[in-house]
Amino acid sequence: MISINMNGKVAIVTGSASGLGKAIALRFAQAGADVVVADINISSALETAEEIKSLGRNAITFQIDTRDAESFSKLIEAATENLGGLDFMINNAGIGMMKPIDEFSVDEIDRLIDINLKGTIHGCKAALAYMMPRNSGRIVNLSSIAVKMASPYSSVYAGAKAGVIAFTAALAREAASANININAICPGIIRTDMWEKQLNEMAGEGNEEEKAKAFAAFTDTIPLRRPQEPEDIANMALFLCSDLANNITAQTFAVDGGATV
Ligand SMILES: NC(=O)c1ccc[n+]([C@@H]2O[C@H](COP(=O)([O-])OP(=O)(O)OC[C@H]3O[C@@H](n4cnc5c(N)ncnc54)[C@H](O)[C@@H]3O)[C@@H](O)[C@H]2O)c1
Repeated sequence: MISINMNGKVAIVTGSASGLGKAIALRFAQAGADVVVADINISSALETAEEIKSLGRNAITFQIDTRDAESFSKLIEAATENLGGLDFMINNAGIGMMKPIDEFSVDEIDRLIDINLKGTIHGCKAALAYMMPRNSGRIVNLSSIAVKMASPYSSVYAGAKAGVIAFTAALAREAASANININAICPGIIRTDMWEKQLNEMAGEGNEEEKAKAFAAFTDTIPLRRPQEPEDIANMALFLCSDLANNITAQTFAVDGGATV
């Protein structure tokens, strides 16, 4: 029987207080890993950590704003000092925002690029400083279906997430000599807090019927005729960090029910 055993391994998951990051953190813990729950939202991060501990694994929280490059070295230190090392870095923290380009403020453009692209770059750089001398480690970066869908109003987000794909591929070629695999995932459409915020903007907070209709407009075009679940993305992240994926690097994988080809 094939199974994924992460006993004795340590993962950092950014943005793991909620949504996909939380599902990824829990999936790694279910496979036996200890986890650093890193997020800007520390109260929800503590809840994720408690859930991990209830699975019998060790978990610590670390408050981070992924825009702050300097704080990443402290994050790596927290993992190595408290959990004994770092095997997997999952750069998941991100924000979404959809609107016509003329309605974006400079600050909003900066936030989208700083968190979605530069935060991922900072996370990879810090993780590699630890992993490269050890010739060991895996990194997974979260991009998006938005890159290939080219939906109107998602231009800035899509641009930042396209950067994640290019960055991942080039960096993976650089890290390959140190036996480190780096890949990206393009999640499809998952109704996390990110989507809730977007649907509130589109249909009005509390207007659940209109929100459901607005969400269906996006999910109706998915060939498998259903949205994705956070666990779908978590499964891909776990696979990419497992021995089953030893020879997979510099790639991007869509988990989107066939929405992009
Ligand atoms: N939900 C989807 O349909 C979808 C689709 C494609 C890609 N993604 C990507 O997946 C990732 C996770 O998204 P999600 O849907 O779980 O969103 P979410 O809003 O549910 O969770 C994002 C998490 O990141 C944290 N975060 C935000 N900014 C941060 C910062 N500067 N520093 C540290 N933490 C920060 C939040 O506090 C939150 O816990 C994001 O990168 C997102 O772009 C999501």
